[in-house]
Amino acid sequence: MRHSLVHPSAYLLRYEIREIVDFVQKLTELDPSMKIENENIGDPIAKGWPVPGFMKDLLKQEIDKPGDAVFGYTHSRGAIPVRKWIAEYSRRFSPNSELDYEDVLITSGLGAAISMMYQMLPKGARILQPSPAYPTHGAFESFSEGEEALTYKLDPDNGWAPDLADMEDMIVQHPEVAGILVINPNNPTGAIYGAETLEKIVQLAEKYQLMILSDEIYFRMVYNGFTFPQVTEIAKNRVPLIVMRGLSKDVPWPGGRSGWVEFHNVNLDADFKKYADSVKRRALLEVCSTHLPQVVMPKVYDHPEFAAWLAANNQLLERNSRVITEKLKAVKGLKVNATNGAFYMMPIFEEGTLKAHQTLPIANEAVRKFVEEKTSDPDMALDKRFVYYLVASTGICVVPATGFFSPYYGFRVTTLTRDPARLDAIYATLAKAIESYLES
Ligand SMILES: Cc1ncc(COP(=O)(O)O)c(C=O)c1O
Repeated sequence: MRHSLVHPSAYLLRYEIREIVDFVQKLTELDPSMKIENENIGDPIAKGWPVPGFMKDLLKQEIDKPGDAVFGYTHSRGAIPVRKWIAEYSRRFSPNSELDYEDVLITSGLGAAISMMYQMLPKGARILQPSPAYPTHGAFESFSEGEEALTYKLDPDNGWAPDLADMEDMIVQHPEVAGILVINPNNPTGAIYGAETLEKIVQLAEKYQLMILSDEIYFRMVYNGFTFPQVTEIAKNRVPLIVMRGLSKDVPWPGGRSGWVEFHNVNLDADFKKYADSVKRRALLEVCSTHLPQVVMPKVYDHPEFAAWLAANNQLLERNSRVITEKLKAVKGLKVNATNGAFYMMPIFEEGTLKAHQTLPIANEAVRKFVEEKTSDPDMALDKRFVYYLVASTGICVVPATGFFSPYYGFRVTTLTRDPARLDAIYATLAKAIESYLES
């Protein structure tokens, strides 16, 4: 080729949640009898969550409407009545919000919005990422910049709360930081940050003239007595704020590919307003986002059955959090924080417990050889090595913590399994496998 076709930053696009799937695919080709327990992907549908009947009815009604409008394009930034509903919906939680529907952007999944938001930042303007964090943010941010992500620590010894001193240190050391990403409720830790923590983050943003990006895709999925504090209330008229929400998780409709972004406090800063406008202009190039889910969305959230349906699911997640926490806390060498929101948990290995020689028994000869070959790479992160052995030995597929920009070795599980007996069995097996691995 006259020119290299490979983007020099392509290596920064990492998404371990899916990359592990290719490895597992290979295992099942080598041993077709292998049964895989997918604890890696936060897809309620893949874990057997039923779509509520009322939602299916709403969809059917929309599809059957005369004129077939939902089969056509819609407004590039999202259907206007739906954006108006989003602005009004925001005021239900944050009564003083001045969010205008023109500052709402609907995208084909929140993932699309995330990519646009980082793409539209000028080179040299960095967004400080949590560590560990949902990798789409860190990967897109670092790809846009061509540099590794700049991160602040979440503290596993303090319920995974953001380490605010580390956050401030990073802001001071890196004048290129233009904003702070907060994921609340958090993926991958399952933590909820309270109003006090958010207040301190807003104060830091005020002090250093930064914007806040708040990924709240799990904001309705909160339990164990926790409540979700509205950063829109706390940050009102104080700092530029971007709130991100979507349909993939609580509805649940991840395959619908629909999410939205709210640009709050746009009149506070002319530069922020221009940036918001540039993201919205970027969206025009895609003509429009998926039509059907966006028009059904207000009807789903406003449906009289939605609240009870959501409460039942949150109850289930609370029970799962309790069961998984109990089982994994009993494992020596593991640090475990209960999940209080979203549907993930990230147990961490105590320092020094993971070693490069540890293994688990793998019955199938071809699978064993394949795993040995893969894990012979001396640069492989020790938690990834553990994850490979775990899935090959037990069929339980989790994601290594280092795939989430984590400074700690560990792994992320989902807490979505609905059948209590199956949940017990998975986590009893997992606990035993960890003990065997660490002792091997
Ligand atoms: C924190 C967080 N933000 C964004 C997304 C992307 O969601 P979507 O399916 O709308 O692209 C996810 C998906 O897992 C997530 O966990």
